[in-house]
Amino acid sequence: MSLADRDRAVLWHPYTQMRTAPAPLPIVRGEGVYLYTEDGRRILDGISSWWVNIHGHSHPTLNEALAAQARELEHVVFAGCTHRPAVELAERLLEILPPRMARVFYSDNGSTAVEVALKMAIQYWRNRGEPQRRQFIALHNAYHGDTVGSMSASESSVFTRAFEPLLFPVERVANLDELETRLNDSVAAVIIEPMLQGAGGMIIWPSEFVAGVRQLCDRFGTLLIADEVLTGFGRTGKMFACEHAAITPDIICVSKALTAGYLPLGATATTAAVYDAFLSEDRSKTFFHGHSYTANPLACAVALASLDLFRDEPVLANVARLENQLREGFGSLRDLGDVRVIGGVAAVELAGKGYLDELGPRLAAAFLERGLLLRPLGNVVYFMPPYCISESETAWALEQITNVFRLDAPVW
Ligand SMILES: Cc1ncc(COP(=O)(O)O)c(C=O)c1O
Repeated sequence: MSLADRDRAVLWHPYTQMRTAPAPLPIVRGEGVYLYTEDGRRILDGISSWWVNIHGHSHPTLNEALAAQARELEHVVFAGCTHRPAVELAERLLEILPPRMARVFYSDNGSTAVEVALKMAIQYWRNRGEPQRRQFIALHNAYHGDTVGSMSASESSVFTRAFEPLLFPVERVANLDELETRLNDSVAAVIIEPMLQGAGGMIIWPSEFVAGVRQLCDRFGTLLIADEVLTGFGRTGKMFACEHAAITPDIICVSKALTAGYLPLGATATTAAVYDAFLSEDRSKTFFHGHSYTANPLACAVALASLDLFRDEPVLANVARLENQLREGFGSLRDLGDVRVIGGVAAVELAGKGYLDELGPRLAAAFLERGLLLRPLGNVVYFMPPYCISESETAWALEQITNVFRLDAPVW
């Protein structure tokens, strides 16, 4: 039996209608921007394996860091114990995160990084004696993850509809004027994906909007949570998207590219002001949150090695070069729909019916036939490769995208 057949007998895949989805790609090896299948195909990873990969697959430096850490310490409980990779990574993160970040709280993935931020905000106000501040405000088209809290903060959509009985109410705004009218002293925090909303459809916001949200949060004395799970570590061309607007949030969530796509790790960083509200002789003010794999040493070690690559190699310059190429390549698709490019992300929104539009799977199949892995968000086709992609590999991928639209036009 092939791997795909064995998979079909026992597995249940994420975001996959198991009845109608095509057989999963059996991947046996990865190198650079390429994935290799069991039957010998080479496929360019045009979505950075769900937006996590940045330096390429199976990178020798990262492999070595992982192996070295495994020989030393694979894992230890992080309540009551600590270890070098966790401490060093927190030190390094605080050096590069937006100013005023003072503490790092680890978790396992993007959703938990957001979940931690929401719980931190609620308990911050409670510990400070303002428990009435319990409302969250988020943006329309937001996507913050798949756990119950992060789903609540996300836009109501086909992703969340089945789970509505579980969700708590969150106010939703579309612009600064609406935000201003909704802000009051019952608001615990405003949560945004700075500059780029990902799963909501690759929507790019002006930096003035992000700066305006910060100003309003300051005026109304509420917390600002920046969900940089997608945007962090260079994806929008800056190390963190908040830098486009020169703002600092009160709480920032990172994951995905934190470990360069190697291992699940989330981090929620915050200011001394938020952290201090949890310090007390009264133990009930403790932040009662934690996961078995909090601060996993293997994940922290790879994250550190990834930061070394940012330091030692022109990683952000590669993203800038990629951005120029994407602007030119996707620029030629303007007649097809709205084209949006920021950093290493390019998207074209075609006419269609949103995420469930059949266009998505049809286009994905056409790209795959040409050796390019893309997962359109329904009628939004985007390309988000690892930053290490070369100029010629980018040119090849752009050519495949253009050809599917121009030559295989009946496909869509
Ligand atoms: C902005 C944002 N926040 C949170 C998440 C959730 O991350 P994870 O899939 O690691 O739970 C995602 C995932 O796509 C995301 O894009």
